[in-house]
Formats: sequence, structure tokens, C-alpha cells
Amino acid sequence: MLTSLRDVLNDLVRDLHSAETQLIKALPKMAKAASDAELKAAITGHLEETRGQVARLEKACELLGIKPKGKTCQAMKGLLEEGSEVMAEEGSPAAKDAAMIVAAQKVEHYEIAGYGAARVFATVLGEDEVAALMTETLEEEKAADAKLTGIAESTVNDEADHEGSDDSDEPEEDEEDEDEELEDEEEEEEAQAKPAPSKSGKNSLAKTTAGKR
Ligand SMILES: [Fe+2]
Repeated sequence: MLTSLRDVLNDLVRDLHSAETQLIKALPKMAKAASDAELKAAITGHLEETRGQVARLEKACELLGIKPKGKTCQAMKGLLEEGSEVMAEEGSPAAKDAAMIVAAQKVEHYEIAGYGAARVFATVLGEDEVAALMTETLEEEKAADAKLTGIAESTVNDEADHEGSDDSDEPEEDEEDEDEELEDEEEEEEAQAKPAPSKSGKNSLAKTTAGKR
């Protein structure tokens, strides 16, 4: 029953405990399914952080005099189901990576909302130790979200680079690239029938979707 701000905080902390526990089970599968090395590393790194976050929530429960178990976070369940759908889907590795980044960022944003509120409520209730624990995790979640944004941006930039190379009105290239120009012209003719693969070595959307259009 919710009759006070303390009830809301207690519920929220239990909800977050359930969310993080579910995430610990899901993250290894996501890391395995990711193709991009940077994305794989980010997910694996966040798994370690998440274990620490669960420990903080258990400490918070101790401070609040409540038991961490007994609640299932339905929102995390749903978010992780969406993530599983992405992983099970057929498709190119880069497109699947991009979709997994979206799924992971939805998780982070959900957690940021929860920890942000928990910190405020704990502060209002004078539970400073709990507030400090929530702040620590909140900062980790924000950093994880920013890292995912960075990975997403590099994927999108690779895609943009590729789109640029299809453009026949390209500005002149550097002298160093002149040797490649003849080849490029030949490739451009081919590209009218079939898009050229991305020249960047990264696992880009452009690269892995080339030739499938
Ligand atoms: Fe988390």
C-alpha cells in the first residue's frame, strides 16, 4: 500500500533491485549477440557495474529496513523482451547492433528515471546514505548511456560516410587519394547497380548492408 513518500521509496528501491537482477541475466546474452567490439565491451563492462549496483540496492534496503525481494519490475521485463526480439531477428550484424543500442538505451533511461527519483525521495526523507548510494548508481547509468550514444553516433557516421561516397558530385580528394581515384571511378559505375562497401574498417551499417538492396 502506498500512503507515504517512504512507501514510494521502498517500492522504488525494490523495483530497481528486480530490474537490475533481471539485467544481470540478460546482459551476457546481449554481449554475445553484439557484433561490434566496442558495443560488446560496453555491455560486458556494464555487467560488472550492474553487479555493484545490486549490492548498493541491497545496502539501501538494509538502511531502509526492508527486504529487497518480492517485487517484479514489469517494465524491465518488457524492455528485455524487446531486446530478445531484436537478438532473435534475422538481419545484418550492424543493423542488429544499432537496434540493440536502442534497446540498451531504453533500459538505461528507465533506470535513470528510477534512480533520479529514488535519490530525490531519499534526500527529502533525510536518508542521506541511501541518497548517496542512488547518486553513485545514477552517475554510472548516465555514463553508460553516454557511451552507447557515442557508439551509436559512430555507426551513424559510418553510414553517412558511405552515403557521401555514392555521390558523384563529390569535392576533389587529397593528393594521396589520387591513386585510388581511377579505381573509385570504376567502382562508382558498379555502384549504380550495387552500393560500394564502406571503406572504413569498422563494423558499419553501410558495410554490412552493401549489396543487399
Ligand atoms: Fe543499472
